[in-house]
Order: sequence, then structure tokens, then C-alpha cells
Amino acid sequence: MTEADLYIQYKGIYLPSLVHTAYSLKQYEEFIFRPDDIIIATYPKSGTTWMQEIVPLVVSGGDPESVESLPNWDRVPWLEIHQTSDLALSKRPPPRMFATHFHHNMMPPSFFEVKPKVIYVMRNPKDVFTSSFHFNGMTTFLVNEMSQSEYLKKFLEGKAAYGSWFDHVKGWLNAEDKENVMYIAYEEMITDLKDSVSRISRFLEKPLDADIVEKIADRCLFKNMKQNNMSNYSAVPEEFMGQAKLDFLRKGIVGDWKNLLTDAEVELFDAIYQNKMKDVKYEFAWD
Ligand code: A3P
Repeated sequence: MTEADLYIQYKGIYLPSLVHTAYSLKQYEEFIFRPDDIIIATYPKSGTTWMQEIVPLVVSGGDPESVESLPNWDRVPWLEIHQTSDLALSKRPPPRMFATHFHHNMMPPSFFEVKPKVIYVMRNPKDVFTSSFHFNGMTTFLVNEMSQSEYLKKFLEGKAAYGSWFDHVKGWLNAEDKENVMYIAYEEMITDLKDSVSRISRFLEKPLDADIVEKIADRCLFKNMKQNNMSNYSAVPEEFMGQAKLDFLRKGIVGDWKNLLTDAEVELFDAIYQNKMKDVKYEFAWD
């Protein structure tokens, strides 16, 4: 099926219509934040699910109750999806935790007034593309009947679901009130998960003893998270996301793009990356 069959256009970007309805987007736009809310913002396939495991554990001081009993989309719901409309978010105790795949300039008005804390997770776009290419093939709500090179072209042009990776990253990097935003890369989490958990706990002003940090980091290792049925998407019906051939928690490594992209695709990717990112001063963990 094509974009016309599966996507709606919202503020100029494609969104899968299975998860975004006019009603849920209106609710999103009218959402009222609280100062102690915590937002995990990501371009898809950058480490959202991973952060949906880490943040609740940090907030609970390492108590695994919520990560063992609530699926990640309920524990840290996406603000913009229609399944979230059924959750009584205003009744949740503080701090409420949310995820979003939306670009910075798509955040609702209340976000800019209230300025809650944001953890923005970034990942090497070549690995994002690789993860996304495999993921699209598992789902029935994302366009997946195209060749790798066709999808790469669309991804680089920003004609994929959730728009351009370049615009997403640049938009969030340019957020005003940077003291409310913590930037972290998937690659940093892979290199030193304990240090990443410590940084997150400091940013969230939730000091943790070293042994708790260690326990959280251990729980959030790929091999351990893969066993958690509340985080590995095994609860999603096969008709939406088929995991018979490939797991949602697929490889969890840095550099898998080297197993997918051809030399010509790497050349194209690098040329576009250099052009689009030429004015960005941020030192990315993958450069
Ligand atoms: P791969 O497909 O490369 O394996 P998101 O949650 O934003 O959709 O991102 C999914 C990607 O994050 C997948 O990448 C998934 O395997 C990876 N991931 C999830 N949990 C992880 C963990 N604990 N350690 C490393 N990677 C993880």
C-alpha cells in the first residue's frame, strides 16, 4: 500500500493514520503540560523504547513495578497517538512521563509556556534508516512495499513517516530554554549505560546510589530488555506488527548500516548529511 492509503499529512509531514486520528491530534494540540512532566522526544528508531524503560526506573528509584506491569506505551505514552486518548492522563500522579515523535515546532502551545523537562535521544541516521527499513517490513501501518533504494531516497527527502530526520534533530537542537533539554545519543548509551543512567538521574534531579544506577543499567541492557514482555512489543497483535521473523528489539547495536547500505547508498547519504548538517555545531557521538 502507498502513502495515500496509509498516511495522513499533518503540518506537512506524513503520519500513519492507524495511530493518529483528527480527534487525537486535536487532543494533542490542546494538551496541558505540568512543570514536572518528563518528555522523551525522539525521531522513530532512535531509542524511544529504551528510554521508556530507563526513565520510569530512574523516577521510581529502581523499583521495577511499572516496567514489569505496564507496556511501554502505557507507562510512557506517546502524546500524539489515538490510543493515548483513552488514558486518564490528568489523573496520573507526578511526574507524568510521555513520549513524542513530533518535531520541536509541532509541540502544543502549553509545552512552550510550561517548559517541562525533555530528554532528546538521537542516533546515527544511517542506523535509524537501517532499523526503520527492517521495522517498516514488520508492520501493516507503514509503507513497506518499496525497495531499499526507493525508501532511502524518501527517507533522505523527509518523505517518510514523521518527516525528515534532519529537520527533527535540528529543530530539537535549536530548542530555546536548553536548560530544560537533555541531549543524549543512542551511541553514548551503548558505550556507557551506567554513565547515561547517572546523567539522566542528575537531569531529572533524582539522585541515585551507585548500586541502584548499576541495577537499572543492567536491567536496561538489550539482552535483558528483550526478555521483558512489557517492553518487547510481544503484546502487539501480529496483524499490526509481525514478529515471527524479526523482533522489535532487533539487534540493538551501533553500525548495523554497514550490513545494509551499498557503497553508492553510503556516498549519497554522506553527501546529503554533510549538506543538511553543515551549520550544526553539535558534536554528534557518531561523527
Ligand atoms: P535496531 O532495529 O537497530 O535493533 P525505537 O524504540 O525508537 O523505535 O528504537 C528501536 C531501536 O532501539 C531498535 O534498534 C531496538 O533494537 C533498539 N533498542 C531498544 N532497546 C534497546 C536496548 N536496551 N539496547 C540497545 N538497543 C535497544
